[in-house]
Amino acid sequence: MAKRLQGKVALITGGARGIGAAAARLFSRHGAKVVITDIRAELGRSVSSQIQSESGQPVTYVQCDVTSDSDMQNAVDAAISMHGKLDIMYSNAAVSGAVGQNPLEEKKGPGILLSAVDREAFRSAFDVNVYGSFLAAKHAARVMIPERKGSILMSGSMVTASYGAAPHLYVATKHAVVGLAKNLCVELGEYGIRVNSISPYGVATPMAVESSGLDEETYEGMFTAMANLKGVVFKVEDVAEAALTLVSDESRYISGVNLLVDGGHSLKSA
Ligand SMILES: NC(=O)c1ccc[n+]([C@@H]2O[C@H](COP(=O)([O-])OP(=O)(O)OC[C@H]3O[C@@H](n4cnc5c(N)ncnc54)[C@H](O)[C@@H]3O)[C@@H](O)[C@H]2O)c1
Repeated sequence: MAKRLQGKVALITGGARGIGAAAARLFSRHGAKVVITDIRAELGRSVSSQIQSESGQPVTYVQCDVTSDSDMQNAVDAAISMHGKLDIMYSNAAVSGAVGQNPLEEKKGPGILLSAVDREAFRSAFDVNVYGSFLAAKHAARVMIPERKGSILMSGSMVTASYGAAPHLYVATKHAVVGLAKNLCVELGEYGIRVNSISPYGVATPMAVESSGLDEETYEGMFTAMANLKGVVFKVEDVAEAALTLVSDESRYISGVNLLVDGGHSLKSA
């Protein structure tokens, strides 16, 4: 297998499970030295050592709440002190913004979703999803600018292109993240740094399952049935493959893109 990230150093926020863990596994298989950060220490450590034993590449877990400037600074500095550089920052950590109700039930009427969202819910979702992405980019840029290269990938969602299937809060944060990525692309291009976002369709991760209140099989079955592209069951590995393409040098002239990985689903409602 051609190793597409040989010699690269990648930091993935929220890498203890779900899409982040799948990306860590794939990046590592492609030769990257990976730093997984999360707030789930036990899971993060066990996933890191599992991936390291599979790939033979160094995989390290660093505890980092993305809403903490000092945690993010420490995580990036840890990558530098272990590996001497940071080539890739995948700002993947997020929360669903679901506030005690099944977001898929929201279709029953705006009254349900609006009344369930209060200021605290807004503050915490924007803190993790938007401010966390900002901090990831800020500290990545700090070490990438002197090298005049690097790749920053942010996590959007298909909800940046299709509407009505997720909580308002989540949709608002993901639009903010995509806007942030595009604005950063303009600023950081000056220093040879690419900034993109990736926007997947619904995939049965712990977050998706927990926030929908459905079991994994039901969630996957429902999204498979709604999908535009038939004959494929969408998996976290599919998101990881798309992320790999965006962060690797094969995409060296791609910046400012919000890559929808949705099998064309969003075009049905465009
Ligand atoms: N699952 C989907 O259907 C889907 C679709 C589109 C986009 N996404 C996006 O993909 C990304 C990964 O989501 P996932 O579905 O794998 O979710 P997940 O909950 O399975 O994984 C997210 C990880 O982020 C971590 N995290 C949460 N808050 C954190 C914080 N403050 N600091 C550090 N880490 C924190 C969690 O502990 C978890 O390990 C998110 O940005 C999500 O919005 C997911």
